[in-house]
This record gives sequence, structure tokens and C-alpha cells, in this order.
Amino acid sequence: FALPKEIIAKIDKIVPRYPSARSATLPLLHLIQDEKGYISEQAIEWIAERLGIEPIKVLELVTFYPMFRQKPIGRRHVKVCRTLSCALNGGAKVCEKFKDAFGVELNEVSEDGEVTVEYVECIASCGTAPVVQIDEVLHENVTEERADELIEEIRSNAKGGS
Ligand code: FES
Repeated sequence: FALPKEIIAKIDKIVPRYPSARSATLPLLHLIQDEKGYISEQAIEWIAERLGIEPIKVLELVTFYPMFRQKPIGRRHVKVCRTLSCALNGGAKVCEKFKDAFGVELNEVSEDGEVTVEYVECIASCGTAPVVQIDEVLHENVTEERADELIEEIRSNAKGGS
């Protein structure tokens, strides 16, 4: 299990800031998920060893918090906000559109490895709900029509190989 030097340096800074090794587990999990896309068994063992705790203690947190993934994600990562403003403005319908278009259930990878659709909590753009983040790009006021356009964009990028 390998991490880039910058990530190791961040981890070395984070760990001493926490009162116990155990309490440093969550920030490390976030860092590693951001880097790798998910938390593998190797990642769990790596964190446990780095913090001097049992791997089961790390696994407990991974399974407790729904934001941690234990499986890889697709090349395109669609995150639909499900918090209040977005939920009230049709977020669930938009999410269904993405799932149907790519034939996936939540948190799964489409057969071609291309797309994962996921619900996330508020991404701080409640005034322009519903919002969808695709990879690093935030899309606001995503009506069902806008969702269709975004789906088309994802499809054409997949074909174009960009
Ligand atoms: Fe969706 Fe805040 S509720 S961005």
C-alpha cells in the first residue's frame, strides 16, 4: 500500500495534533479516501500500523460512517446532495435519473467501470438546490432537464475517451 509523499507528510502533521491515536483515525481515513477513492483492506492495515492500534478499530469506524467506501468507484463520480434544500427541490428524482441512465444502484460502479452515483450530505450550495457534484465540478439548480444534459455529457466524454 503506497501513498504519495505529500499525503504522508500531511499525516505526519495530523497525528500529533490529536490526543490519542484512535482520535486521529477519522482524519486519516478522510485523507486516504480522498486520495484513493475508497478504503481498502490494505489502507485499514496501513492506518492501524501507523497509529499503533488494532485494524478492527479502524474497520469499526469505516463501517460505522456511511461516507466511507470500501469498494472502488467509477471513473466519473456523481454526488447528489440529499440534505434538506436539495431534497425539497427534487434531489431524489435527479438522483434516480442518474442511476437509471447508467444502470447502477447507489454506491455501485456501472458495468463499464465508468460511473458511480452516490448521495452526499449538504455541499454548502443550498441556495441553488438541487445540486450535483460530478468529480470536482459543482452543478447548481439541477432540474431533471439539466440532469439529462449532464448525463449526455458524461456519455459523450466516455465515448470520446477524454
Ligand atoms: Fe444540498 Fe445544502 S442542502 S447543498
